[in-house]
Order: sequence, then C-alpha cells, then structure tokens
Amino acid sequence: MIATAAELREKYLAFFQSKGHAVIHSASLVPDNDPTVLFTTAGMHPLVPYLLGEKHPAGVRLTDVQKCIRTGDIDDVGDAVHLTFFEMLGNWSLGDYFKKEAIEFSFEFLTSPEWLGFPLDMLGFTVFAGDDDAPFDETAYNEWRRHGVSEKRIAKHPKKDNWWGPAGLTGPRGPDTEFFYWTGPKPAPEVFDPSDKRWVEIWNNVFMEYFKNADGSYVPLKQKNVDTGMGVERVTAILQGKDNCYEPELFAPIFAKLDEIRRVPSPAEPPPAERLIADPLPASAFIMADGVIPDKNGREYVLRRIIRRAIREANRLGINTNFCAPIADVVIENYKKFYPELEAARNTILSELTREEEAFRRTLERGMREFEKMIARVPDFVQNKVVSGKNAFNLYETYGFPIELTVEMAREKNFSVDMKGYEEARQK
Ligand code: ALA
Repeated sequence: MIATAAELREKYLAFFQSKGHAVIHSASLVPDNDPTVLFTTAGMHPLVPYLLGEKHPAGVRLTDVQKCIRTGDIDDVGDAVHLTFFEMLGNWSLGDYFKKEAIEFSFEFLTSPEWLGFPLDMLGFTVFAGDDDAPFDETAYNEWRRHGVSEKRIAKHPKKDNWWGPAGLTGPRGPDTEFFYWTGPKPAPEVFDPSDKRWVEIWNNVFMEYFKNADGSYVPLKQKNVDTGMGVERVTAILQGKDNCYEPELFAPIFAKLDEIRRVPSPAEPPPAERLIADPLPASAFIMADGVIPDKNGREYVLRRIIRRAIREANRLGINTNFCAPIADVVIENYKKFYPELEAARNTILSELTREEEAFRRTLERGMREFEKMIARVPDFVQNKVVSGKNAFNLYETYGFPIELTVEMAREKNFSVDMKGYEEARQK
C-alpha cells in the first residue's frame, strides 16, 4: 500500500523504471532551458530542448519528480487543491512511445493493486474534442474505452481545457488527456462532470506533437513526445482519504508549529487563514534553496510577494512574533531527505526570511496606520470609493507600502484604486 508522499515518489519512479525509463533529478525552480517563464511551473520546462529534438544524455524515456511553483493560481490558493509550491511526478517519451503506451502505463499505475490501486469507478477522464488546429483525439478516447472506461466517464473538451500550452507564446504543445478522482461521497456519479470541484484532477498526459509559432500557427514537431504531470500532494491526500492537500504529512507539522506559535490547541482542521500562511513557506524555502533572495525586481520580487502574503495573513490572525523562519525550519526537516539542497541552504533561508519578515512587519504597521489616517483625512476618497493614484503612490514612496497591499486593503473596504493615476504618479 502506498500511503505517504515519500512512498508515492519512490513507487512512481520504480514503476516507470520498470518500463525502461531513466530517473533524472528535479531541475532547479529557476529555469535554465525556458526563457518564457520566471519559475519552473511544470516538468516540461527543463526539458524543452529535448522535446524539440536535442538528444537527452539519459535516453528517450525519462521519469522524475519536479519541483514546481505556480503563482498564476494565486486566487485559488487556500482551496482544497491549489498550492504555490508542489511536486510533479512525470514520465517522458522523447520521440519514443506515444498515446497507446502512455495510456497503458497510466492505466496500470492508476488501477493495478500493485501500484495505486484506484477503483476504476472512482475515476473520470478528459480528451481533446478537436478544432481547426487539430482533430478530435480519437486514439486517446478509444484507448480509454479499450481499458473498460465507460463513455459516460470520458469528457470531450476544447482547447481551453484539453490542450497543454504553457505560459509562453511559442513552444512545444499538444492535446492532452487528464485523469480525475472523485473525492465526494461514494458512489461517484455515473456521469463524469469535471466542473464539479469534487472531481479532482490528479494527472495529465500531454501528447506533444505541435510547435506553436509566434504568429499563432501550429506546425508538427520533429518528434512526437509524451509529457505527463501527476500532483504528489493531491494524490497523497487521496491515498490518505483526505479531501484536501493540507492534511497529509507534508503540511501537518507546519500547522502544528503554527498553532504552537499562536499558542492555540491544534484544531482538527486548520482554519482557511492558516492555509494561506502555510502555503507560501514551502514555496519560499524551495525558491531560496535554488539561489533566489527576495528583492525589488523579477523573480526576486515574486519571491518577496510570496513571503509577504504569509506575513500579511499572519498579521490578520494576530500573529505578531516571527514565524517564517521557524516554519521554514519545519519545511526543511520535512523535505530534506529528498531535496538535500534545502539543508545546504538552511542558514540563508532562515536568516533571509527573518530579515524580510522584520522589515515587512514594520512597513505593514506603518502603512496600515497611514492608510487608516488617509481614509479619515481625504473626504474625496470616502465619497467616491476610490483611492487616488497620488495617494496610493504617496503610501508607497513615503512609507514603502506596496501598491498590491493598498489595492488589497482598499478592496476589503469596497474601495478601488486609481491604477492609471498611480502609474502616472510613478512615471513622474
Ligand atoms: N505539462 C503538463 C502539465 O503540467 C503535464 O499539466
């Protein structure tokens, strides 16, 4: 029986090794091979040159556990299944096997009692419905049917849902087939409806056979690849019978630490606000372990915003002592066996987090005070429910209060911020 994240990683790699795949180490969160993204958001980024035809030294069948950061889903973070940092299990065919074998492997790993052993009646599948660029994925559909999947459990979707094309304008991409698990009360509905959030996506198989040019046109790739991604945290939660990613062992010690810092008894289920404090800390620790330090621009600034989000949420919960470093310490303990880079960077991670936390706490206190004063002082602001660009810029320039926090605080009071005015003030 696979139950923990550590067992899942190990079994996944062992399964694909038994199918002739070479295990490769997770690449850095800072992309080397793909200038279209600030962070590695999927296992495919580090492999782009090989998806385009360059020879990979480890061969044409690869498997890995890739560290990923996604900040695009930031508004979803705190729900049951979206995390800023997550681990993606992947198996890769670089011009070797294609749809039939990929689906065969996936089916076996998902349903065989020797591996995940998921009952087929708890699973739903999607396939690409077809459009002007590419036809309906009949092969994938027929393969699922051949494995005994009911047609009511195969949903056909357009490009918006069933096409992997990462952030950049150009690059390798193609139709995909996704697998969902029913996390609601049993039995699972006969008809699979992926818009029901209780169907949780756990794995995606991309059949990467096109290259998208800058003008939007698609041309066939030199080689046909398979790119897959299975979420470690989601599958671990399912294996443990949990309906959210925050309960298994990767997060439980974080909440225990947080409760200790808050001096409250550990609740059975962490309140949503605690999720928003916990989520950014693995992300921050892993990004720093890959050599990024919070700062003013680019990925350094994205990191800063991730850390600040945790502090802002903690502030809301009334946590006024330093918590970032103690929690990052728990994160390092949790993951260091599989990711030794965390241990190697421990001192930097802890000291940078403390520095950042102390500085931001001061900014936050000052900025919030000034924001409240501003509301009381500026009648126009109250009348029109708009923070002028000049006032927003003043908060930033004089008190270092970041614009996104002004926007957030204004939003909480049902006000908006004149962003055009803010930009104008900033340009001046
Ligand atoms: N690249 C695919 C994804 O991230 C597997 O979903």
